[in-house]
This record gives sequence, C-alpha cells and structure tokens, in this order.
Amino acid sequence: LNGTASKKGSRNIVEKMEELGKNCVIFYGSQTGTAEDYASRLAKEGHARFGLNTMTADLEEYDYENLDTFPEDKVAFFVMATYGEGEPTDNAVEFWEFINGDPPSFSEGEEDKPLKNLKYVTFGLGNNTYEHYNLMVRNLDKQLTKLGAQRIGTAGEGDDGAGTMEEDFLGWKEPMWAALTEAMGLEEREAVYEPVFSVEEREDLSPDSDTVYLGEPNKNHLENTQKGPYNAHNPFIAPIAESRELFTVKDRNCLHMEIDISGSGLTYTTGDHIAVWPTNAGLEVDRLLKVFGLYEKRDRVINLKAIDPTAKVPFPTPTTYDAAVRYHMEICAPVSRQFIATLAAFAPTEEAKKEMVRLGSDADYFKEKVSSHMLNIAQAVAAVHPGPWSAVPFSCLVEGINKIQPRYYSISSSSLVQPNKVSITAVVESIRIPGAGHVVKGVTTNYLLALKQKQNGDPDPSPHGLTYAITGPRNKYDGIHVPVHVRHSNFKLPSNSSKPIIMVGPGTGVAPFRGFVQERAEQAKKGEEVGTTVLFYGCRRPTEDWLYKDEWEEYKKALGDKLIIFNAFSRETKQKVYVQHLIQQNGKLVNELLQQKANFYVCGDAAHMAREVNDILAQIIAAERGIDEQKGEQVVKSMRSSGAYQEDVWS
Ligand code: 2AM
Repeated sequence: LNGTASKKGSRNIVEKMEELGKNCVIFYGSQTGTAEDYASRLAKEGHARFGLNTMTADLEEYDYENLDTFPEDKVAFFVMATYGEGEPTDNAVEFWEFINGDPPSFSEGEEDKPLKNLKYVTFGLGNNTYEHYNLMVRNLDKQLTKLGAQRIGTAGEGDDGAGTMEEDFLGWKEPMWAALTEAMGLEEREAVYEPVFSVEEREDLSPDSDTVYLGEPNKNHLENTQKGPYNAHNPFIAPIAESRELFTVKDRNCLHMEIDISGSGLTYTTGDHIAVWPTNAGLEVDRLLKVFGLYEKRDRVINLKAIDPTAKVPFPTPTTYDAAVRYHMEICAPVSRQFIATLAAFAPTEEAKKEMVRLGSDADYFKEKVSSHMLNIAQAVAAVHPGPWSAVPFSCLVEGINKIQPRYYSISSSSLVQPNKVSITAVVESIRIPGAGHVVKGVTTNYLLALKQKQNGDPDPSPHGLTYAITGPRNKYDGIHVPVHVRHSNFKLPSNSSKPIIMVGPGTGVAPFRGFVQERAEQAKKGEEVGTTVLFYGCRRPTEDWLYKDEWEEYKKALGDKLIIFNAFSRETKQKVYVQHLIQQNGKLVNELLQQKANFYVCGDAAHMAREVNDILAQIIAAERGIDEQKGEQVVKSMRSSGAYQEDVWS
C-alpha cells in the first residue's frame, strides 16, 4: 500500500539517486520503527537546514555490489538498530551478510579499498542492558573503514537502556552536521518548514463512504475481505475468546486474554511473541485534536500525498483526522525536543513561540518542564499555550509524531495444548507522576483492559476517559476484536523433553513459563518422559498478585515431583525476598541440573532482575564447582553462546 521508490524501480541505489536527483541517502535498519523515524528526521533536517537532496531507504530494498561506484560528491547515512542478542534487524540481514562478506564482492572487482569514494555517516540504536551493545553500528563502521570509506563525524550511539536515546541522538547530530557541511562544502540556511505531505480535505467524500479508511490497515480490510498471510503489514483482526483478571487486588490489574487465531493461518510455537496493535485512548485523541484545532473537523475526510516521491505516507488514505490520530500516530510517546523546536514556528503567540524555542534548545529546561512529567505532545504543547495551535500544518504532525507500533507480548500458552489460541498475560501499566498530578497510562495494556471490560460488560472504564468508542457498521474494531500478528522467537524449550530446565520469571516474566510448564504437563500426560522442571517465580504477596496460583496445582498433578516451584514473596516479610535469593539458597540443585545440561531461562525486567540473576548464577557456579568467580562468569557466558542460557527480557 505504501508505494516505495525502489519497488517501482531499481535496486541500484547509485542509479536511483541519480534518477531522483538526490545527493544524500539515509539507509535504515529498523525493527520497531525507531531507526526509520530517525532516518526520516535526518532526511528532513538535512534538506531544510543544508539544502541536501535527501531520501530515506529501507536497507532491504537495495543491492550493495555497486556501493563502490557511489559518487564522491554524495553521502550515505546508516541508521542501524541492534536487535535482541546483537542481531541485525530483519530488514538489514542481507546487507549485513553482504558487508561482512570476506571480502564483499563489488561490481568493479578486486581492489584494495573499494569504497574509497564513499562518504558515510552512522548512528546506532542500542540498549546497554544487552551484552552486544550497538554491535550493528560498531561492526558496520569497522567494515566500512576497512573497505576504505570515509566516515563523517563520530559514529553515534543511542542507548535505550539508559533511556537517553533521544538526547544521545540530538547530542550526536549537531557536530555531525558541522563535519558534513565542511566535508561537502554546504552552507546552512534559514530552515523553513517544507511539508513532506500535501493534505487535501475531501469535501466530496463522507466519512461513511466505503472507500474511506477508519482504522483498517489496508485495502483488504477496508473491503472486509481480510486475507492472509498475516504479518506486521497486515495484522489479523482476531476475536478475543476470553479475558479475565488475574490479580485479587482492586488497584492493580493483570489481564489474562485468549486470542483466537483459528482460521487465520497464523501459527506459533511455545515461547513466541504476539504483537498487539493498539488503539489510542479516546481521551488522548480528543486532547490532541483539541489543542491543534482539529477537534471540530475531526471527521472530515482527508487525503495525503507525498510531495517527495521517496517519502511514504505512513497510513492508508483517504481517511479522517480522527482515524489517522486514533489508529496510526504514537501520540502518547515521549516528546522529542526537536519536534518542540519545529512547532515553535507555528505558535499562537510570540510568548508561546519564545517558550517553545527555549524548550527546544535547552535540554535541562526541557527535562524539567516536559520529560520529568512524562508529558505527551498534546500535554506539552497545551502547557505552553492552551491553543488552539491551528497554524500547525497537519503534515507537520504526521511527520513529527511517530507512527504507531505494535507491542510484543511473550505468549503464555503452549502451542501443543492450544495451537489455535494464544494467551497473553499483561500487567496494566499506570504510572503516577509525583508532583505532576497526573497518571500516565500504558497505551496498549489499557487498551486491552478496555477491551476486557467491554467484552465482559464490566462497568465503563471511563473514570480516566479511556473510551474506545470505535463503532460503525463495517468496522470490525468493535471492542472485542484485536489486531495481532505473531513474531517467532528463539526462546524455546529443548527439543528433547527429558532435558531438565530452570526458569526464572518474576511478575509477568512468568508468561512464557506458564506455556513451558503447560507444554511439559501435556507431554507427561501423553506418557512422554519429562525432565526436571524448575520455576523460580516472584510476586509481592500470595494474596494479591500470585499469577495462576491454582493452575500450578493442576500442572503438579500431571508432572508430580518433576515440577519444582520456588515462590519469592517480596512484600510478606521485612526483608524482601526475590527470585535470585531463592536461586542462591538452592544453588546446589541449580548447579547439579546445569551439570546435567539443563537449559536456563530468564524472562522479565532487563535492567535489574535479569542482570542480578546472571551474576548470582555465576557466583553459584563458582561456589559449587570450587572455581573463582571470573571463571563462573565465563561458564555463564559460554552457556549464553551455546543457547543453554536464554533471555526474553524487556526494559
Ligand atoms: P517488589 O515490587 O516488592 O520490589 C514482580 O514484579 C516481583 O518482582 C515483585 O515481587 C517485585 O518486588 C520483584 N522485583 C522487583 N525488583 C526485582 C529485582 N531487581 N530482582 C528480582 N525481583 C524483583
């Protein structure tokens, strides 16, 4: 649906740039869309400030043999995310393999420095809580240098683990632009806003017309003929077979949901992830439409066209302002300082403009006023001036606000037990901001909560204005369906069921392990030999948040003494008890099982828990085997590389 330049034409980037009159290409290796968004921002800025003729390019849409013919007077950017355990993003796999070829074979044949004409810029997106921090960009930089290419500026690195990605990016790009202007003989000009998209209001079309998109991801959905294969470009609108509450306390929620994927062709295996495509809360949609003066005309039909042929309209059109904002724009995400600076030009008063300029240029001030309160874009803008900010072009919002991304959940059921139903276990997130007087609500978990409430006929969740009033005769977003797709993972049970396993999953980290245990219980019922199955689980109190408390008893019936569960209750006693304390107390058992080639699995919080578990395990191994701690760490490292130590963690 999104016409891209290369689909229409060549996979030869040098030719493509020539044809389009571009002198700057910004390649992105993106998994969840962040790298792609950064690439678009660089493209816009490069053009607005320095007159570069920029284009963005998905790495998988080009070939690289002719990179050695890349002209000297042009520049290539690489914005590369590192994914999971130091892997390339899906769209970067081929490029990655090519550039790491030994040596890569270029069109002009053997030469010592085949890329000597290539000027390049790099920025990496990584997470330092993972071992292979920014591996992609570091390796790429090394390879390109080896091949004779010349880097402009420093090789930038953003850290999602420390939560500083945006500031890392902003801090990196100014000196990079300075180096680039020098290298290419560019001059900075007064940046004027140039829309990437033209927005046309279609008075001839009613929002009820069956050609207008009201949240449908593509044409098949619009025409009510949704067809597989279902994937990240084409989610399946799945019925929710069941949803229930898992906590026994009033003030916190944890959802269990059964998503019916029968007939969709979607398949999963135990340990995979399910992607959920959220819908923004009505309250937030209203807030944004109001502050930007779109509220009254929310249902007008609009058409967006890319003015630059290499830009992609990020959602299907024609649509309405309301639908674009509700389904396609990440309006509740942290605000970018750069976007605030861009909006300054359209402020309703001089005073508001001054304040926006200050917020945009002063990192500390921005932190104090915006990020520390976790304000979203509408809240941040309204705090400067209540609006309406009617002068802001809609194109500017579409460009400045990221497109909505699916959220991934570790599937909590076994595909052996229920191949056509996927279970989700999710804590509903609400963060009260101290002193700010407001609560920040997780977009997707609150969406799921609203779906559950709607499906079960629970009282209206609107005390917080979280209404998902998505109705309409042909619209399947009726509150009891949810758009999903499946992402396969490497987080897997050993293929031999008699192998022992040790699982560590406090909180909702237990999700995949419910699937693992469910699977092993089923195998035992079928008479298969099942190895020792140890689970370290943690929650606050047995009476509050003990997930699947009764189910474990059922699994015990099937697995007998093969199933050993250690429960760490953190708020029952004065001293906190965490999973890692119990792992330590049971060090002998853990070590014995590891020596019997047990797999070790950790799921949950990456920043603290997973690290601490890693360290405790190294200590136990050292103590039990009488080796020093460094050697213990080595053992854990080699377990990781052989796949005996697996993580499914998030931050
Ligand atoms: P707490 O909230 O009482 O500190 C699920 O969230 C469980 O994990 C809770 O019992 C929580 O305890 C606990 N938890 C919090 N931080 C942890 C850590 N660093 N390691 C292990 N468990 C932790």
